[in-house]
Amino acid sequence: MVEERSQGLARGLTNYGDRDFSIYLRNSFASSMGYSREVLNKPIVGIANSFSGFNNCHRHFPEMLEAVKRGVLLGGGLPVEFPTISLGEVFLNPTSLKFRNLMSMDTEEMIRAQPMDAVVLMGGCDKTVPAQLMGAVSADLPAVQIVAGPMMTSRYGGERLGACTDCRRFWGKYRAGEISTEEINTVESRLATTAGTCAVMGTASTMACVAETLGMSLPGTAAIPAVHADRLRAAEATGLAAARMIERPIRPSQVVTERSVENAIRVLLALGGSTNAIIHLTAIAGRLGIPVSLKRLNEISEETPVLVNLKPVGANYMEDFFHAGGVGAVLRELRPLLHLDCMTVTGETLGDRLETDPGPVDRNVIASAEEPLEPKGGLVALFGNLAPRGAILKRSAADKRLFEKEARAVVFTSLEDLAARIDDPDLDVTEDDIMVLQNAGPKSSAGMPEAGYLPIPKKLSARGVKDMVRISDARMSGTAFGTIVLHVAPEAAVGGPLALVRTGDRIRLSVKEGTLDLLVEEEELERRRAAFTSPVVPAAERRGYDRLYAEQVLQADEGCDFAIMKPVGA
Ligand code: FES
Repeated sequence: MVEERSQGLARGLTNYGDRDFSIYLRNSFASSMGYSREVLNKPIVGIANSFSGFNNCHRHFPEMLEAVKRGVLLGGGLPVEFPTISLGEVFLNPTSLKFRNLMSMDTEEMIRAQPMDAVVLMGGCDKTVPAQLMGAVSADLPAVQIVAGPMMTSRYGGERLGACTDCRRFWGKYRAGEISTEEINTVESRLATTAGTCAVMGTASTMACVAETLGMSLPGTAAIPAVHADRLRAAEATGLAAARMIERPIRPSQVVTERSVENAIRVLLALGGSTNAIIHLTAIAGRLGIPVSLKRLNEISEETPVLVNLKPVGANYMEDFFHAGGVGAVLRELRPLLHLDCMTVTGETLGDRLETDPGPVDRNVIASAEEPLEPKGGLVALFGNLAPRGAILKRSAADKRLFEKEARAVVFTSLEDLAARIDDPDLDVTEDDIMVLQNAGPKSSAGMPEAGYLPIPKKLSARGVKDMVRISDARMSGTAFGTIVLHVAPEAAVGGPLALVRTGDRIRLSVKEGTLDLLVEEEELERRRAAFTSPVVPAAERRGYDRLYAEQVLQADEGCDFAIMKPVGA
């Protein structure tokens, strides 16, 4: 038999040195799954399914999967689901970021290695969306993403509750002794009550909006609640779109471009979105050799207003954002600032998309560009001798009274040191100090956890102190808030200036100037630099993925991707 097809099962054959034998064998084994010959001749849409019992946010994926398959069949393709690694944010040790690159490699290689003509990416929880996009742009097969969608809110004592900004708010009250153990236990049981991703503009929601803005998911799909019937219709439409891309291929490299990445940065800033998103966008763009400069971020931030009134920056939740108009309404407000010629997975440009009827917009949730919540973007990059390659502050979630500050540093040398001393009644700290956490960056043994939201020392929180300047090389949950400087690069564990800070040093922060400086004489810094030894276990003493991670992970300003994952020659 001679098979001329190059689509579907005839793609990417297992190599036995005899093409016809490879097809014959593959058809025969595929037949064992009960497919008819007619079905086996169809083009294939792979469905990368990141369902897992360790991922509450993806609990509804079995139902969404059926809808995606229905769409693929409608489009004349054969849907074939395959599992990938899943990353449930709160179920991973030491932190989910450590495994984002592993999931991206899994996704990329399974897209490339298995016979499919297009792929649907089913992701949602924080790291899964960027991991899938990183893998998909590297594999560069036509791909469209459908996200999990946000959770619905719940109620406690007349208040709305949504993971996870309210988690932190109530935990802060509990630490300050304002609520009892019984009350915090009740809150614990009501914070996350449906399938879906965190109910606020945290990292998952921000990345969902970023994916839609990039053009990698269908218009209007980012904010649909996980349990809403519209999400199943969106999943069906996603399957159909993927099947259609087989005839008219649109590759991720045509969608993710310097211009669409800039659009995504703009939307991130207008959302008051998660600081994590800048790391993820840098990593996604980096897979195509597109640099994301923090200096350019600042330029865009200067001219992009904050428009979205969602927690943790504002008052509302993702279900409100959905009903208020979602990403489309934000894009329309930003229209004069956007690159409208960017291609999307539907085959339409962003400009084409914005020609359609906008529908009503709730201005309590999505402000107009004429009357924004803030005139400048939600994130700002800081530079100085403490962060030569940059640091990030989510100014929209910070206390403006702390923006211009020179104060004494109180240093914690590790997460263990922080945990051991933060609530010590004898800790020498006042609300006017700047707390510094070292050795929580990507190369540290902690793996850059969301620990930048250092708790306010108990003795201060009990006195009503709600915010202090905190500086670290760690990340922060997209659902957190406070005057928190993150992603300091280079990090302490590789000998960055952050490693040289000692308790009692003076630090100056100026958001107006965009600076972060350690006010210590250069001679003294040189002495400390000479005495520096890294606390990290050397890569040679590690094995497996842990070793690969230690050897390859890049700094925050390079998206914490692996050096080997950059395009060849980049
Ligand atoms: Fe999955 Fe927050 S825990 S999105």
